[in-house]
Amino acid sequence: MEKNVAKTKAWKKLASHYRSIKDVEMRDLFASDPKRGEKYNISLETLYLDYSKNRFNDQTMQYLLDLAKDADLHNKIEAMFTGEKINTTENRAVLHTALRNRQSTPVYVDGKDVMPQINAVLAKMKKFTDAVRYGDFLGYTGKKLTNIVNIGIGGSNLGPVMATAALKEYWAKDIKCYFISNIDGSACEDVLSQIDPETTLFVVVSKTFTTIETLTNAKTCRKWLVDALGEYAVSKHFVAVSTNAKEVSKFGINVDNMFEFWDFVGGRYSMWSAVGLSIALAVGMENFEKMLDGAYEMDNHFRNTPFSVNIPVILGLLSVWYNNFFGFHCHGVIPYDQDLRYLPSYLQQLFMESNGKSVNNSNKFVKYDTGEILFGGAGTDAQHSFFQLLHQGTQIVPLDLIVPAISHNEMGEHHEILVANALAQGEAMMKGKTVGEAAEELAKAGKSAEEVSMLKRYKTFRGNRPTNTIILKKVDPYTLGMLVAMYEHKAFVEGVIWRINSFDQMGVELGKKLALNILPELRGEQTKEHDSSTSHLIDLIRKIRK
Ligand code: F6P
Repeated sequence: MEKNVAKTKAWKKLASHYRSIKDVEMRDLFASDPKRGEKYNISLETLYLDYSKNRFNDQTMQYLLDLAKDADLHNKIEAMFTGEKINTTENRAVLHTALRNRQSTPVYVDGKDVMPQINAVLAKMKKFTDAVRYGDFLGYTGKKLTNIVNIGIGGSNLGPVMATAALKEYWAKDIKCYFISNIDGSACEDVLSQIDPETTLFVVVSKTFTTIETLTNAKTCRKWLVDALGEYAVSKHFVAVSTNAKEVSKFGINVDNMFEFWDFVGGRYSMWSAVGLSIALAVGMENFEKMLDGAYEMDNHFRNTPFSVNIPVILGLLSVWYNNFFGFHCHGVIPYDQDLRYLPSYLQQLFMESNGKSVNNSNKFVKYDTGEILFGGAGTDAQHSFFQLLHQGTQIVPLDLIVPAISHNEMGEHHEILVANALAQGEAMMKGKTVGEAAEELAKAGKSAEEVSMLKRYKTFRGNRPTNTIILKKVDPYTLGMLVAMYEHKAFVEGVIWRINSFDQMGVELGKKLALNILPELRGEQTKEHDSSTSHLIDLIRKIRK
């Protein structure tokens, strides 16, 4: 039985410490310690974290580290890396870290080392991606396969979407990647209208191979291909990535064309496995492996570095600090890099599916908040949409500002302007502008006393809004691997502190099941008892569709 975290000594100390620090202004913390910016940062190879613009002092950090110790974080990390079945509700090990265990040191699940099978799939991926990229594996009519269409949803889509976009600069010149995830027919139509069946390879990605969206989309694409090239073309244009060989073969894909992964890899942690096949097809296996190397670097840092200088640990603890003590329940991720624009959507699943839980590891409903609502968008676009609320709204949203120092497209002054904006947001969020400063500025700009009095509050920024600044040398495969692994481990730290299982996702089941009930009714096949609103909506939509 695990202790209720809210009843631990460390938690109680934080609760009382919070009362003494909640009104402390970060601008005062910076004024009283001119070296604060140099003190609170950690660098790891090509990634640098500045966490000085957060609402904490040394005492806070000590209490947070005590909280981690109390949660037995060190042993929990070891349990994950060594293949213990920490996904207790599904009785599974959690071994995305084994997928990038670049030294291949043995990792045992049920007494069996999983590394040989992981390495065998990596070798199979290399052989296949090389064959496609160099034109040895051709389409049915003998043409090179240059359109890669990933069909999958959730963890079988978001990783490939995010990473292929992030690594666009590394794509083979003649390869184009497309993604079909949503069940909306328009998603299929959008892609199919752009491609030629003779040069298209469909990669159907589904851990379970039972997901209705993916199977429906795959069936539509299969029909489209068969209509154009005939049934025999399927084996040259369809491959599958799954843990379920039986369903893959039932679907009509030869299991020789199946890339395996395993129950110990969760969907949202799977882009390091064969789920990343479309990433590897686009950027080549060498670059895919560099991404694994970067993640491995972060894994080793997370596993072996003292918590006081451990990037994912610090980030996770700060999130708990804000969520549970300040009541800041949202977290924004703002990559100042166009190629990282899908990172917030990827992280949305990672954090919200992992930690959106209400029952703790002792099978009790929790009495404290878990999870964080994650959103974001690429800077500077995001500045021109939701930053008004972040600067002047009543809700405080801690942010991660992710800033590559070097751009892949150093065009004129574009990159300097971009970086200047990123750093300015962090400064503005922290410092803000007092009513007095706003009034002074207005007076200096020549406004009358009346105008100053009318405008000064509207021009005030309360500040004291936390940001982490994450500087990347450049968005390359290695650094991307580090960045994504950093967030995976941050989510892990939060889950350990909250005493929840971050690795199941039972919350997505109810809606899926009810949809299957409603489907026959929309077809007019049968009627069932619903609440009056749902029944009325079913009738209305049937009438409109007639
Ligand atoms: O949305 C729930 C979920 O189970 C995710 O966790 C997963 O990433 C996604 O569906 C897709 O599942 P599958 O890979 O089995 O098709």
